[in-house]
Amino acid sequence: MTKISAIDVDEMRVPEHVAIIMDGNGRWARQRGLPRSAGHRAGAKSVRSVVEESVRRGVRVLTVFAFSSENWRRPPTEVNVLMELFMSTLQAEIKSLIEHQVQLRIIGDMSAFSPKLQARFDEAQRVTRHHQRLILQVAANYGGRWDITRAAYSLAEEVAAGSLRLDQIDEAALAARLSFPDVRDPDLFIRTGGEKRISNFLLWQSAYTELYFSDLMWPEFDAAAYDAALNDFARRQRRFGLTGEQVVAKASA
Ligand code: IPE
Ligand code: IPE
Ligand code: MG
Repeated sequence: MTKISAIDVDEMRVPEHVAIIMDGNGRWARQRGLPRSAGHRAGAKSVRSVVEESVRRGVRVLTVFAFSSENWRRPPTEVNVLMELFMSTLQAEIKSLIEHQVQLRIIGDMSAFSPKLQARFDEAQRVTRHHQRLILQVAANYGGRWDITRAAYSLAEEVAAGSLRLDQIDEAALAARLSFPDVRDPDLFIRTGGEKRISNFLLWQSAYTELYFSDLMWPEFDAAAYDAALNDFARRQRRFGLTGEQVVAKASA
């Protein structure tokens, strides 16, 4: 029998849910004397390799930040490029999503998108809804504060309507009203592009997520870079407030 070293065993511990801030498209393009739009186009390719690697490694949920609620503040030409890219990428990738058994979900405030794009999003979600291999959640016009505010609004609405009592409001009640209540909180959070901030991504859901920052720009982030992040995660000890000794005792119990 081949001996399995401790590090091999560790590297089998795969995060169930990975969340990624795909940052650095603009800088990647500018470094090459290209327009920012070229960076966004190149970035769309990285999504494909990370999706495929997630399927290969057994990640169950991948949530990627594609457009924040603050990104509307960018020049209109750039916003338009991003909207067109959503359309064309969906069109180009839907076959591959079906082939890899990927369930697509769009999270965020859809009402701001054009009716045409909303219809495209709806259709892509409909045709992939039974897939179980990987859930790919694309956060578009998403903001962590928007998500929490909307959940608070729902709670208030239900209390006002008499379907919920005040004493039923707890963390679980709020979490159940967030964007994807059926999915566990992210285990690993990756941000490319060198910045070390959360930029209003999954604020509530990241309370105990392991953070990983890469200096690579998103278009440079390939399967090998993603593997390095997954392997780094596998070596971490998650304590959730316990002592290290308690965690070790629990694992061997
Ligand atoms: C991330 O890359 C993509 C979006 C925010 C839509 P950026 O466009 O933010 O790239 P940088 O950070 O300016 O390099
Ligand atoms: C975060 O990147 C949002 C996405 C990657 C979609 P930004 O580039 O918008 O973040 P800031 O503005 O640098 O914090
Ligand atoms: Mg950026």
